[in-house]
Amino acid sequence: MDGNGRWAKNRLMPRVAGHRKGVEALRGVIRACAERGVLYLTVFAFSSENWRRPQEEVSLLMELFMRALENEVARLHENNIRFRVIGELSGFSERIQSLIRDAEALTRDNTRLTFTVAANYGGRWDIVQAVQKLMAAGVPWEEVNESALAQQLSIADMPEPDLFIRTGGEQRISNFLLWQLAYTELYFTGTLWPEFDAVALDAAIASYRTRERRFGRTSEQVKSAS
Ligand code: IPE
Ligand code: MG
Repeated sequence: MDGNGRWAKNRLMPRVAGHRKGVEALRGVIRACAERGVLYLTVFAFSSENWRRPQEEVSLLMELFMRALENEVARLHENNIRFRVIGELSGFSERIQSLIRDAEALTRDNTRLTFTVAANYGGRWDIVQAVQKLMAAGVPWEEVNESALAQQLSIADMPEPDLFIRTGGEQRISNFLLWQLAYTELYFTGTLWPEFDAVALDAAIASYRTRERRFGRTSEQVKSAS
């Protein structure tokens, strides 16, 4: 969710005002996804690299994360939304970790939309922790294959994403779901995250609909199969 800082700067406001506006935008996007029948929404809220930001901004982001956990989870639950967090959670305060555990437990059986927040997450970290789990379980090397590894990733129980959206004009993956994005359609927009709304989401979905997903096959094969 990129572009909060620039959105604020354009308005001569402090960066944190952009992050606050970003939380509002996220609320709208979650609602829009639920209304459109999207089953999985995963957002990159805080990367393992974001700790490198100025201490003050990091603290404000943590504060905002905590407030959101305190204030938004009940509404997610009322709307039958399952909430998950993936990432190295031990990097967060005890308070945040316990709010996350409670929110996940409260919403675990909800079925309308699975909303996942990647926090202190990195795609490389995810692959490494999956390998560690395989090794800790003593899985023999001949049994280490793509499906065995995929089963140890943080979101092993969810389908690979169909569509990846990056806001804010940057055209990179920045260590998001590296493994799972292998065949995902990528969509880049200059829209800053605080301005990313249902209309912007529909534009991304419309772009997605024009794509032909071949998964390595030829265009002719895909057409005759459908
Ligand atoms: C939000 O946008 C991303 C977070 C890490 C919370 P940015 O803070 O990267 O905004 P820009 O890129 O400075 O505009
Ligand atoms: Mg940025």
